[in-house]
Amino acid sequence: MAELTAMESKLGEVLGLAQAAQVATDKVGKLVEDESVVATIQRLHDESVKVEEMSTELIGSDTFTGKKTAILDQARETKGEATEMMKTYLGDDADGLDGLEFLTMAEAAEMGHWKIVEKLNEQLADRDIKELTDYVVPLEEAHFKVTLESSLVLAAQEDPNAPA
Ligand SMILES: [Fe+2]
Repeated sequence: MAELTAMESKLGEVLGLAQAAQVATDKVGKLVEDESVVATIQRLHDESVKVEEMSTELIGSDTFTGKKTAILDQARETKGEATEMMKTYLGDDADGLDGLEFLTMAEAAEMGHWKIVEKLNEQLADRDIKELTDYVVPLEEAHFKVTLESSLVLAAQEDPNAPA
């Protein structure tokens, strides 16, 4: 197995998180009834497909010759860990608000990881990575913001006196 650099390993992680985001948005979309929130979750899903595609394309470029398989292995591991976390957090009795709480954590993780990729690339100054982070970092910031806002939309619909 090829040894990965810190950047290569981090690219595997963000790819795995983009894959896990699709699993999470599929799951949480089914827990939510509010139509506008469901539409938001669908958009998060579709945009994470785009992020996965763009990341996969980068990893397939000449820069990562000989490393692609190991980066994809890292992605698979990260996706597995994130999906396990989701299953732990969202048990059988999870409702829409529980789902949005989990998505808020997941989007915060994506945003944080992408900002780290961006920071690591300040030293590498790789143009392809910069092009990707210029697109994805603001996108993940927006994902985190809209997910938090959506969780508050659902919280506002809760009866605070109702049994939990
Ligand atoms: Fe996201």
